Amino acid sequence: MAQKIIIDTDPGQDDAVAILLALASPELEVLGLVAVAGNVPLALTEVNARKIIELSGRTDVPVFAGCDRPLARDLVTAEHVHGKTGLDGIELPVPTLPLQAQHGVDFIIDTLRREPAGSVTLVPIGPLTNIAEAFRRAPDIIARVQRIVLMGGAYFEVGNITPAAEFNIYVDPEAAAEVFASGVPLVVMPLDVTHKALTSREWVEAMRALPGRCGPAVAGWTDFFERFDTAKYGSLGAPLHDPCTIAWLLQPDLFQGREINVEIETQGRWTTGMTVADWWRVSGRAPNALFLGDVDRDGLFDLIRHRIARLP
Ligand code: RIB
Ligand code: CA
Repeated sequence: MAQKIIIDTDPGQDDAVAILLALASPELEVLGLVAVAGNVPLALTEVNARKIIELSGRTDVPVFAGCDRPLARDLVTAEHVHGKTGLDGIELPVPTLPLQAQHGVDFIIDTLRREPAGSVTLVPIGPLTNIAEAFRRAPDIIARVQRIVLMGGAYFEVGNITPAAEFNIYVDPEAAAEVFASGVPLVVMPLDVTHKALTSREWVEAMRALPGRCGPAVAGWTDFFERFDTAKYGSLGAPLHDPCTIAWLLQPDLFQGREINVEIETQGRWTTGMTVADWWRVSGRAPNALFLGDVDRDGLFDLIRHRIARLP
């Protein structure tokens, strides 16, 4: 029985690779994509999500638009990282796949109420606005969520959008605080891991050489996406943040981490959006998350390459 997932996303080149990895993996049943405002505004993330679905050929997977702004703050976007479209790196045609009419938050609610309790995993790889809004509108679904596997946060690696905060958490810290306090089993993929998931030139060229269109698309996205981190960190390679969530679902043994307490700062003058991860267990606060800290990089990139090679 395939693992049922909903991917909540703000494409984003790394989101796109995560979505392709999920669609290429028969262990996963992608019930739908829900776009959220994040890397770029919702009007672009929903189009990008549809472009990625069409590129993959999996037009059976529905795409929904969720929230267009954080719960309680103005939207902060990241065109400086992802380009003005949010999916710079290759040109993709305007999608013909229709956007679903239902609001993405209502899709999340209806799906969790319809599917057997504990059978659906949520995979948010952008700000947590849609997830928190769904929990606010329908508290009854919280106990029905199997688990949440999210990309977000940082501890040893500190922030990427401020000195203290990682982008997905920073954009909507109130949403993150509510999700982290919800009691749903959490698997957190922070920058501590994803900054170790750097593409290599050999890997990118192997993707570019794949037959079909998806491999070359991944190469084009990562070439574009790499330039920001290279300029900022001096690192070579693009960090494949979001694909780490899907890879964990496929091969969790590629990753190492700890069950710890993680709180979200929402009041800090300098630290708003910080994931206060009690890695050394000094707070006495109850663990609420599997917080990952390391990854078998070669195993991760072998997995992604072999799966993307299955796509058209
Ligand atoms: O900080 C990295 C995260 O922010 C990734 O999900 C990337 O797509 C952006 O949304
Ligand atoms: Ca993302």
